Amino acid sequence: MIQEQISQYTEEINAFATSDAEQLEQFRIKFLGTKGIIKDIFDQFKAVSPEEKRTLGKVLNSFKQLAEEKYNTLKETLEAHAGPGAAAQIDLTLPGEGYEIGSRHPLALVRREIIAIFTKLGFSVAEGPEIEDDWHNFSALNFPEEHPARDMQDTFFIRKGGENGDIALRTHTSSVQVRMMEAGQPPFRALMPGRVYRNEAISARAHCFFHQIEGLYVDENVSFADLKQTLFYFVQELYGEGTKVRFRPSYFPFTEPSAEMDISCSICKGDGCQMCKQSGWVEILGCGMVDPNVLENCGIDSKKYSGFAFGMGIERIANLKFEIKDLRLFSENDVRFLKQYQSVLS
Ligand code: PHE
Repeated sequence: MIQEQISQYTEEINAFATSDAEQLEQFRIKFLGTKGIIKDIFDQFKAVSPEEKRTLGKVLNSFKQLAEEKYNTLKETLEAHAGPGAAAQIDLTLPGEGYEIGSRHPLALVRREIIAIFTKLGFSVAEGPEIEDDWHNFSALNFPEEHPARDMQDTFFIRKGGENGDIALRTHTSSVQVRMMEAGQPPFRALMPGRVYRNEAISARAHCFFHQIEGLYVDENVSFADLKQTLFYFVQELYGEGTKVRFRPSYFPFTEPSAEMDISCSICKGDGCQMCKQSGWVEILGCGMVDPNVLENCGIDSKKYSGFAFGMGIERIANLKFEIKDLRLFSENDVRFLKQYQSVLS
């Protein structure tokens, strides 16, 4: 009885082949399951006589082995062909999950636009270290030792004193102008974009770091008229034709004369609004003729060469362009905020 069953099922097992996971599972349930054929035959086996058991036992064991081996080989081939996840029955017709595409940071967009405008006037881009020594950040730029001008920019010092004097986080990218002038001879016509640091309490209107773009133009016969014309052109390109400019006298240790430049408010077009505090004008940058002392400090003949320099905060420009009132948004990394500006400037 058992013998017969075994030979019948052996044939069936040998003949069985499938590449379908469901059919293989049916096979497993039928032969190897807890209520399967093998279990059933083993139950019957308990009742046979001890003599019979000896021969039948072997047959039964190899029958069980046959079923297990068949199942395992088929399972392995199925998995190898299907790869991981196939058992989960992936529906390839379902729509895929989209990946979010990143966007440029609004400050990067504005920086890129500013650089593009000055590039048309022949300016190149120069960069320098964010950790600076006293010479490049202050002394070469005509900030006298112990002069109150050093207090204009509250500085994060990394080391006070030492061989090369104080080491600090740069407070402006004018330090890159010094490095550029020290390394060569005029003509220089370059922009210095970069991050700068000042020890300020963080609020909507101030941060302990921000981004600047400074510019330097040194050659023979560079005049204040060149400065005005260059910056006028820049503003027309950035804020549109008809934007007015005005220069107010100011003070920087490294420029003489120095000025601050205002533009007619880009938001209300001069009518008066919250952004320009009802004045119709907003300040966007500091500028001036490079002080002859600075040229000499950098090994440049101030009798032969003259130059102008300017510096602006990128956050300030972005602020006027996008009406972003809280500076902190720029560094909070909230993508919902950051990705809004991609289409405005690109
Ligand atoms: N370095 C000045 C600042 O950070 C800006 C400036 C640059 C002013 C060049 C004049 C000329 O405030």
